[in-house]
Amino acid sequence: MTRAAESVRRYSRFFKKQNALKVLDYGTGNMRNAVFLSDQGFRVFAADLPEQVEKLRACPAIRRVERLLATDELPGSRLDVDLVLSSYVFNIIMDHDERHSYLATAVANLRPGGYLLMEVRCRQPHERCDTTCTDYFSCAECSKTLTHEELDTLLAPHGLRRISHYYRSHAMSAIYQMD
Ligand SMILES: C[S@@+](CC[C@H](N)C(=O)[O-])C[C@H]1O[C@@H](n2cnc3c(N)ncnc32)[C@H](O)[C@@H]1O
Repeated sequence: MTRAAESVRRYSRFFKKQNALKVLDYGTGNMRNAVFLSDQGFRVFAADLPEQVEKLRACPAIRRVERLLATDELPGSRLDVDLVLSSYVFNIIMDHDERHSYLATAVANLRPGGYLLMEVRCRQPHERCDTTCTDYFSCAECSKTLTHEELDTLLAPHGLRRISHYYRSHAMSAIYQMD
């Protein structure tokens, strides 16, 4: 099992202090973060695309989570979690509508006042991938990265307000809280 994401290791103590112990790992991948959080005493729900969930069914790690869900089950699930974790998922969703539906589903499963922890690939603030790049939304390289200001703009319509963030090399992590 690979090491948990930096933001998850860094912020898990903060979420414990907030008593935010019920977590949805949304886009769980190989479950590295879900397993880490379960070991730290969190109640973890893990979700991913149906094809990835099928692969995970044979994986012993699923015994460490309370439930493994396919994304098509999530809109009706109302899990009422304290924290949604999104680690290296949002920056690979390229379609505008799909991004908003991902966020709407996250919010639908989050309790009022709950948290969203997002870790994404970033470029350095104000950096373009090369001198010919003028519009990151139409540039294949830049569009796979996000800054905290860009995330703020995308998340605000969903009632999510940033309370903390940091940059590290080519990653950016931020905690948002529901109104
Ligand atoms: C780069 S992996 C990251 C996995 C994990 N979060 C981590 O940090 O190791 C991206 C994951 O997001 C999943 N994914 C892609 N689009 C998604 C979507 N619309 N909703 C939920 N998961 C998605 C992929 O199947 C994949 O498992």
